[in-house]
Amino acid sequence: MLSIIAAIAENGVIGNNNDLIWHLPADLKRFKKITSGHTVVLGRKTFQSLPGVLPNRHHVIITKDDHFFVDDPNVEVINSIEKIVDRFSKTEEEVFIIGGGEIYKQLLPYVNKLYITKVKKHFDGDTYFPEINYSEWNVIEQESGVEDERNTIPYEFISLMKK
Ligand SMILES: NC(=O)c1ccc[n+]([C@@H]2O[C@H](COP(=O)([O-])OP(=O)(O)OC[C@H]3O[C@@H](n4cnc5c(N)ncnc54)[C@H](OP(=O)(O)O)[C@@H]3O)[C@@H](O)[C@H]2O)c1
Repeated sequence: MLSIIAAIAENGVIGNNNDLIWHLPADLKRFKKITSGHTVVLGRKTFQSLPGVLPNRHHVIITKDDHFFVDDPNVEVINSIEKIVDRFSKTEEEVFIIGGGEIYKQLLPYVNKLYITKVKKHFDGDTYFPEINYSEWNVIEQESGVEDERNTIPYEFISLMKK
């Protein structure tokens, strides 16, 4: 089963210059908690935006570059979206699509669950989350984020299941 996990600004922005824009440790903590121990699927650009391989997660990186290689037993490279769908959309195990924009857009039609952090502010950026048609989804969890000295932007965690 494929799920998406993403943090999305009020205007749909998710990133700029191949980086995240906001600093929200509570979101990073939730991301770690939800994805740890699982397989994560990500685009080559998002992988290169990370400080390195995420601990305790198997990575499947999507690229068209046949020579792309990461020397780590927790990383594999796949060259098409179709292969991701064939391999993971019908599994019992939950597999997490962790971005970025191009990968979310192509895989959203095959996803059963969304874990969204709504970042309640407009941001300028160059990468957007695809349009969510809310009539296709049921909200199953919703929780206001706690603002404090480290998390200074209003935010909310929301999970949605495909109807
Ligand atoms: N807010 C969030 O939750 C969140 C999460 C993740 C990322 N982000 C942000 O999103 C931005 C990156 O997103 P992005 O859209 O620029 O890039 P991306 O989706 O991470 O990666 C795009 C790359 O994936 C490969 N790819 C895409 N479609 C493919 C296909 N059909 N077959 C084979 N390979 C394919 C290509 O790699 P090659 O060019 O190597 O062929 C392409 O350049 C960054 O700013 C990042 O910080 C935000």
